Amino acid sequence: MGRLQGKVAFLTGAGSGIARSAAHIFTREGAKVVIAELKPELGRACEQSVRQAGGDATFIETDVTKEDSVKAAIARTVALYGKLDVLYNCAGGSVVEDKRVTDVDMSVWNHTMSLDLLGTFLCSRYGIPEIIKAGGGAIINMSSVVALRGAFPVHIYTAAKGGVIALTQAMACEYAHDHIRVNAICPGVILTDRVKQRFGKSAESPATTDQTRAIKIDWKNYPFATGEPEDIANVALFLASDESRMLTGAIIPADGGMSAY
Ligand SMILES: NC(=O)c1ccc[n+]([C@@H]2O[C@H](COP(=O)([O-])OP(=O)(O)OC[C@H]3O[C@@H](n4cnc5c(N)ncnc54)[C@H](O)[C@@H]3O)[C@@H](O)[C@H]2O)c1
Repeated sequence: MGRLQGKVAFLTGAGSGIARSAAHIFTREGAKVVIAELKPELGRACEQSVRQAGGDATFIETDVTKEDSVKAAIARTVALYGKLDVLYNCAGGSVVEDKRVTDVDMSVWNHTMSLDLLGTFLCSRYGIPEIIKAGGGAIINMSSVVALRGAFPVHIYTAAKGGVIALTQAMACEYAHDHIRVNAICPGVILTDRVKQRFGKSAESPATTDQTRAIKIDWKNYPFATGEPEDIANVALFLASDESRMLTGAIIPADGGMSAY
């Protein structure tokens, strides 16, 4: 039996990157998955590839920054699959324009806070009542190593991901009696298409790049800090499954030690 057999999962941003990988892994483990994605071409392509692999996934066009869109997507999920057990708040990311507090353009604030923090809030707002109706379940939020370690000059993204950690712990506390576990993952550098396009070759071997110098990291000390989307999707699988039934309010650094030493 699959590790998520019988569960229904709502994955935001599953048109690419970590959540796309999770869509494949979750369905292989028996879950029915909703691909809640802003870009229809990406969402449809993910649905098709999961279905070709024998999984059950449905793309629902969703903008996690818009309350009406999130509300409608959760309602469609329940209408389609009958319930909701797992919410994976994965849509997010930083933009190249993000900088230090004193330099960053204010337009970055609204974009980043909306995508990374408001999106997590809105999906939880409409997802939690459905998970309660299902008798409990799991929420997985995406934070980042940037929120665990000061030396990253993307200050708005850092603040948003710090907010995700605080919200994770607050929700874990509040919804434990409803049998909902809420945990967060803080990845290091994950080689998604977005990251590869943004940092090019330096994402794969960042030892001598400006990026490395900017974040004040001596990369050779962190041989485990760079990973593939499935490395994080597998952590999400564990948190979604009943194997992690003792974990709630946990902030898991999947960063190859970058926040530890
Ligand atoms: N990749 C990394 O190195 C890394 C490191 C730390 C944390 N994270 C976090 O992991 C999560 C996933 O990152 P990724 O690299 O896989 O991202 P990605 O850019 O590969 O995928 C994000 C997906 O979200 C979709 N999306 C964007 N705006 C949306 C919206 N408003 N509503 C719905 N979907 C939307 C995009 O179209 C895209 O398909 C993010 O929260 C990111 O902050 C990533």
